[in-house]
Amino acid sequence: MTTNTAQIHETKQGYFGQFGGAFVPPIIAEKLQTLAEEFYKIKTDKSFEKEFTDLLKNYVGRPSSLYFAKRLSEKVGSKIYLKREDLNHTGAHKINNTIGQILIAKRMGAKTILAETGAGQHGVATATAAALFGMECKVFMGAKDIERQALNVNRMELLGAEVVSVKQGQGTLKDAVDFALGYYIEHSDAYYLLGSAVGPHPYPEMVAYFQSVIGKEARKQFLEAEGKLPDSIFACVGGGSNAIGLFKEFLKDEKVKIYAAEGSGEGLESGKTAATLNLGKRMIFQGSDSICLADENGNPVDSYSVASGLDYPGVGPEHAYLNEIKRVEYHGITDVEAIEAFRELSRLEGIIPAIESSHAVALAMKLLKNKDETAIINLSGRGDKDVVRF
Ligand SMILES: Cc1ncc(COP(=O)(O)O)c(C=O)c1O
Repeated sequence: MTTNTAQIHETKQGYFGQFGGAFVPPIIAEKLQTLAEEFYKIKTDKSFEKEFTDLLKNYVGRPSSLYFAKRLSEKVGSKIYLKREDLNHTGAHKINNTIGQILIAKRMGAKTILAETGAGQHGVATATAAALFGMECKVFMGAKDIERQALNVNRMELLGAEVVSVKQGQGTLKDAVDFALGYYIEHSDAYYLLGSAVGPHPYPEMVAYFQSVIGKEARKQFLEAEGKLPDSIFACVGGGSNAIGLFKEFLKDEKVKIYAAEGSGEGLESGKTAATLNLGKRMIFQGSDSICLADENGNPVDSYSVASGLDYPGVGPEHAYLNEIKRVEYHGITDVEAIEAFRELSRLEGIIPAIESSHAVALAMKLLKNKDETAIINLSGRGDKDVVRF
């Protein structure tokens, strides 16, 4: 892979190369401008830093461990470590971002929190953070996902959130985001707590910032364990928040190969896929100039993946950029491959991964076969929500 690491930078505020920006109606543009200002303020605010890191430590349970997966390593023929985001409070990486953003929402005086969710992990994490700060919470979720991820709907309701079923379109994450953005335009006094590194500026940059704790910890933990950096790192990509959270800390280490797994559903050629960076086109989608699955006229099309959290036709602008400059390789993993990895990791290591994270495990198992290399896989979440399905 040839990459010019000097290229890895944000060219202007809210942009990653040619990708990014904020393409929203004026009423939201004004809100997002205030949000961006607040975000840049907290980045250098020691009291924010203290409150955030205290909560990550004592409430979320960070640092999450970097676990050497011995039996998986023996089976694959490479030395594999798992970054255990599944051990976080609420069971996924999503809580890192919701804790960061709820602190910003509090500073901005918000009383109501809005969120979209696919797999329900971001919804649960948002409902949790809202409960913690005594705020009202409304979560928009596609009708199909409400069925696929029922356990998380029960959790959100128990936490006091209202779950709004989105019946438009396919009833998946894209529709939930569309609906949430529409609702936000009409209720712009609320705080929209977006769950991935997608959408208009400042969300992609802000979500990546809060998730970068994953890579910071993993880098330090790997150096302590092995005395050198890993040969490669792996993560799954829906909108791209857990992946960018791990990758950011390693982007400038040219020797570290970076791989991301997209949900290719029934296969790249099947027409039933969510492999955005393998198949998509450049367009403005949900507030950002990025890559999206499209028809022959360049209009966005619906995605498909067995994993609700990856079943999204768009991707964050930073990933579009990292794909363009070839710093990260994006591979499709099918439903069948992911389900196999889901079962395999459960039996080999006694760890049941989320079906989303299983895509990263499947990709690593494929690419690391008998390579005798060292690697980190980001285990973005746990699979309790998926056990009844697979
Ligand atoms: C466990 C888990 N991993 C990964 C994802 C994909 O999201 P992202 O690409 O933003 O990390 C989700 C989304 O719901 C998820 O729940």
